[in-house]
Amino acid sequence: MQPLGLSQREVEQAVLQYGTPLYLYNLDVVEKRYQALAETLPSNCRVYYALKANSNLTICHRLSQLGAAAEVSSLGELIAALKSGFEAQSIVFTGPGKTSQELWDAIAKGIGLIVVESFNEAQRVNDIAKQQGVRQDVLLRINPCFRTLNSCEVKACSVDEKDRLKPIQMNGQGSSKFGVDEEEADAVLDAFTTLEYLQLKGIHIFTESNVLDYAQLLDSWRNTVTIANRLRQAGHPISILDFGGGIGVPYNSVDAAFDLSGFGRELTTLFAEAPYPYTCILEIGRYIVCEAGCYIAEVVDIKYSKGQKFVIVNGGVHNIYRTPAMQNASKYLQVLEKDADMSQSATLAGQLPTPIDVITKDVQLPESIAIGDIVMVYNCGAYGFNHSLTNFSLHPYPAEAAYLQGQLKLVRSRGTIEDFFTHQHLVTV
Ligand SMILES: Cc1ncc(COP(=O)(O)O)c(C=O)c1O
Repeated sequence: MQPLGLSQREVEQAVLQYGTPLYLYNLDVVEKRYQALAETLPSNCRVYYALKANSNLTICHRLSQLGAAAEVSSLGELIAALKSGFEAQSIVFTGPGKTSQELWDAIAKGIGLIVVESFNEAQRVNDIAKQQGVRQDVLLRINPCFRTLNSCEVKACSVDEKDRLKPIQMNGQGSSKFGVDEEEADAVLDAFTTLEYLQLKGIHIFTESNVLDYAQLLDSWRNTVTIANRLRQAGHPISILDFGGGIGVPYNSVDAAFDLSGFGRELTTLFAEAPYPYTCILEIGRYIVCEAGCYIAEVVDIKYSKGQKFVIVNGGVHNIYRTPAMQNASKYLQVLEKDADMSQSATLAGQLPTPIDVITKDVQLPESIAIGDIVMVYNCGAYGFNHSLTNFSLHPYPAEAAYLQGQLKLVRSRGTIEDFFTHQHLVTV
């Protein structure tokens, strides 16, 4: 059995049938992960599947069938969610820089919640809702004064390790493109009362990513509850808390998995002690799909440069792009039929004509690796296909224009959202 729950024979069969490069998923893992969340989380929490992790229609459809709601951050993801069977009312639209067209379409389709990122955006939602003659439910995203020390933004900075939860000491003193600053939230919510076509439902705070220690997430979520309590005491109608995502998975065979049952227990206590009965949204991507997928490519060249071994595969960052912070994740791999001998350090690189096309540096590979061998990178079900340099978030491909002998010409039409679906087969069970 491989980590993604498929046998070597099953993997080889997929490679034989569909060739490489290939993303291979096991939907049973998706189902188990979703069920584990649904059974463990307190009953006031609902899982919204975060499509940015993987918006493949078949995966989304399975999750909609299982009872998940959906979180989207573009019109492309919204259309993907609707095509996959999610009800518009069970979809939350998050993310900075939503265009008026996206807001118009989302409201016209009857989206359940829009997370507004600024007062300007709230005004635009209000205007569009007014034109459509509806009242739109919204959450306000807040940029909290506190982060845990391990939150994605803080990890990159040098901070004092004294407290787990502390004021952030980083770029711009904690400025963020996400949400409104906590210090401003009360005033912004006061101003919301002038926007008659908005119905404020609650707040959204999301700062942590890929967290394996549940105590860290709890610290952050407790802080969210404290902010909500304060705003509610000030008279704002906060009944929904959206915590974003952040539940992590180990990208190796050594780290301990996230203790979901411990987390569920602590959350139950947290809400039992909260002074108000909140309904909670968890926008979960990575935890549900990461371990359900792998990326498979074939070795097409092997070479040495200044003593460094390079193994080149028929894929690359156009298929799987991991930020420098996530590069080690791609060390969790196997070479089919040669997995016993992972003893030689090499750089695994792709076929794009750019030096950034490195899947992972300093990875242990078999000394006997040869052209034609099949490399399988585990844990690519989340932020794999959709995090490649061309498919992130289902924003259509940009148009290209050029001047030719002084004449401006369109040399590539803008992509359409439909482009993302033309080669997919929606398989239902
Ligand atoms: C607003 C929002 N919600 C949910 C998620 C999903 O988080 P995760 O994959 O950690 O569950 C993200 C990820 O970046 C996000 O930006």
